[in-house]
Amino acid sequence: MLAISPTDRLFVLTGAGVSAESGIPTFRGVNGLWRNYRIEEVASPHAWRRDPRLVWEFYSMRRRVASSAKPNPAHIALTKLEQRLGDRLFLCTQNVDDLHEQAGSVRVVHMHGELFKSRCDSCNRPPFGDTALYDPPADLPRCKCGGGIRPHICWFGEVPFELERIFRSLDECSIFMAVGTSGVVEPAASFVAHVGGRVRTIYVGAEEPANATAFTECLIGKAGEILPALLPT
Ligand code: OAD
Ligand code: ZN
Repeated sequence: MLAISPTDRLFVLTGAGVSAESGIPTFRGVNGLWRNYRIEEVASPHAWRRDPRLVWEFYSMRRRVASSAKPNPAHIALTKLEQRLGDRLFLCTQNVDDLHEQAGSVRVVHMHGELFKSRCDSCNRPPFGDTALYDPPADLPRCKCGGGIRPHICWFGEVPFELERIFRSLDECSIFMAVGTSGVVEPAASFVAHVGGRVRTIYVGAEEPANATAFTECLIGKAGEILPALLPT
């Protein structure tokens, strides 16, 4: 059980591994990969300019997979932790699914965007909720301004959302935990080094991440088994 004092502030970073037991494939690692797609070819501004139909085919497929997924014990353990700690928990996810919210977490920061939101690629109309599927032969969605409607996702080469709040919370935290993230995609991969030395850093995941040496502890196993035992409820 993780000892958390009344003055501790926890920063938790989650990655694809936290949703693996809910049936959403990871990008890398054991059983990883959206096998039929090379992520850089469907998740970049270049891909969007070159082949928006392929991009929407990929994100429609991911919407389909995520819409039938249910939270697992790892999401639920983090929700119970939030109920206990309130705003002393900062839950930052690289995941674009909504399983943390479905489990009942209310302060989730989606640094890579949200699968069930879209936005215009041209005007500054705010992102809006969108569960539609735009698989071919469906027409590509268009904004009233004439621009293309794109997934509200941070693609390769784009700047993640909410970085200012995220780095402020990293500077304020006294315990840092990463769960189910392979430690290769920046800037999230460097969060542990940013806080390391100053605070306790714990990794929970199915295998050692690429940045394992930066953590004080690595707990190897499934998030859905480790987190309910590790986190106080
Ligand atoms: P990865 O797919 O790179 O890594 C998932 C990690 O989860 C791997 O290290 C697995 O070992 C681990 N894992 C698998 N099953 C697990 C389980 N049941 N419990 C715990 N861990 C498990 O996913 P991320 O690191 O999240 O970005 O990927 C980072 C970013 O790369 C994603 O957000 C995405 C992708 O490109 C964008 O789309 C912008
Ligand atoms: Zn527009």
